[in-house]
Amino acid sequence: MKIIEASSYKDLSAKAAMLFVAQMVEKPNSVLGLATGSSPIGLYQELIDYYKKGIISFKDVVSFNLDEYVGLPKTHKESYDYFMHDQLFNHVDIKEENIHVPNGIFTDANAECDKYEALIKAAGGIDIQLLGIGVNAHIGFNEPSDVFAKKTHRVDLKEETIQANARFFGSEEEVPKEAVTMGISTIMAAKKVVLIASGENKFDALEKTINGPVTPEVPASALQYHPDTTIIFCKTSS
Ligand code: GLP
Repeated sequence: MKIIEASSYKDLSAKAAMLFVAQMVEKPNSVLGLATGSSPIGLYQELIDYYKKGIISFKDVVSFNLDEYVGLPKTHKESYDYFMHDQLFNHVDIKEENIHVPNGIFTDANAECDKYEALIKAAGGIDIQLLGIGVNAHIGFNEPSDVFAKKTHRVDLKEETIQANARFFGSEEEVPKEAVTMGISTIMAAKKVVLIASGENKFDALEKTINGPVTPEVPASALQYHPDTTIIFCKTSS
């Protein structure tokens, strides 16, 4: 693991963006693994700026998002599909058919999850995967558990995750209680991983991720075994 301390959220976003820009310059048809939450917003703004300056293009990029809430239509403002279009996709030249966000509305969860895995495989695997981290060290929506969930799967959200994400909804009751997420082995199969974390409320999760034992109780700790992970953090959330 490479650990980089940024001086501010802006610095963190700029540094993380440089890793994505380098990837896209070297391989214009990169397969990007993308994340939601408040952490990546600054990074996406940086990428939009690089695109507007003509330094990068998304026209041959393929994207796969980590996760989605179960039951939210893509038109719902808190769906991750909506978030990604709002924060990044609507502002760059990515082709709609190259965008993949897990489907949160389905009749057969297993079939939907298997389909997502097959799509990642057919695209040649993820070149660079962006991650935030939950206060309980979840990545994607891989919550603390007895086992590392492997592939894309449906998951019950933990109470602390529902509480943390209630700030985006009107109330805790409105936060969906289930999600679909890439699994730990899906994430571990990415060639490169970039995890960003800002603010002191993430410190405990980060400390356990970097220095603690590798355990499914700390899902992000699996990254200790990933051959090319960079963690960029800063002390303040702004
Ligand atoms: C959600 C997402 C995660 C994200 C986490 C942290 O639970 N599923 O992918 O990393 O929130 O979000 P934030 O960056 O807003 O702290």
